[in-house]
Amino acid sequence: MSEIKSFNEVIKIISNRCTVRAYDSKPLSQKDIDMIIHAAMRAPTAGNMMFYSIIEVKDQIKKDKLVKTCDNQPHIAKAPLVLIFLADMQRWYDYYASSGIPELCIEKNLVYRTPEESDLLLACCDALIAAQNAVIAAESMGIGSCYIGDIIENIETHREMFNLSKWVFPITMVCFGYPKQDPSKRILTQRFSKKFIHFIDTYKRLNKDEFSEMFKNFEKETLVKNAENLGQDYYLRKTGSAFSQEMSRSVKVAIQDWIKKE
Ligand SMILES: Cc1cc2nc3c(=O)[nH]c(=O)nc-3n(C[C@H](O)[C@H](O)[C@H](O)COP(=O)(O)O)c2cc1C
Repeated sequence: MSEIKSFNEVIKIISNRCTVRAYDSKPLSQKDIDMIIHAAMRAPTAGNMMFYSIIEVKDQIKKDKLVKTCDNQPHIAKAPLVLIFLADMQRWYDYYASSGIPELCIEKNLVYRTPEESDLLLACCDALIAAQNAVIAAESMGIGSCYIGDIIENIETHREMFNLSKWVFPITMVCFGYPKQDPSKRILTQRFSKKFIHFIDTYKRLNKDEFSEMFKNFEKETLVKNAENLGQDYYLRKTGSAFSQEMSRSVKVAIQDWIKKE
């Protein structure tokens, strides 16, 4: 779409953003960091309740450890700014406890609702929307970023490292830094065609021909070992991989603890 370049600044920034994994040694100023956090906190939030917290990981020992606990990604250790976005119901439930809600519920014969799966999902929405505001704000300041989805792995270790209680879940982490590469030399990643993503009024499942068309610009010269086609390549590298299995285990533990009644 040629009009993107001239549409407006925000659309231009969104359209030219790409994940940055190699950072210049130039540190982010405190003003840069404050602006990124400001943008995160101006994101929409369910009920204006801010069901999230943000941990800035400054300690190099912790960054180094995150490299290992997040599927061995060395760029985490080199990122000048690392933010963990937590889905956080703990703050509200501590506030409810300090406001005498459990006693009120007993007195008035009401059910005291403690966090359930729905609250976790809502808090994850809040945290992720805040994270994306931070990413776009950073991009507008010439600062690159990279999400680290693997933060949902190894919940036991991450709880210990960051003092996370049961109603606090690290839904994502983002590394930030000035890009090492000249942004004008960026090659943007492909996206599926709009017709496979954007439906009107009803959901549509795709057939084999539509999948062939959807992936026509994604063909690769070499596939991962044991894969005979692109679908098998994706499955073996991503969905069926060891890191996905660890995500699955770790998130199950976190959800079981989150919904456990005292
Ligand atoms: C939820 C989520 C988790 C991600 N996790 C990782 C990660 O652990 N490591 C990484 O290098 N990139 C990660 N990424 C970045 C994606 O790989 C990247 O967005 C995708 O390849 C598309 O590239 P682009 O952002 O440059 O368009 C993640 C992105 C998202 C949204």
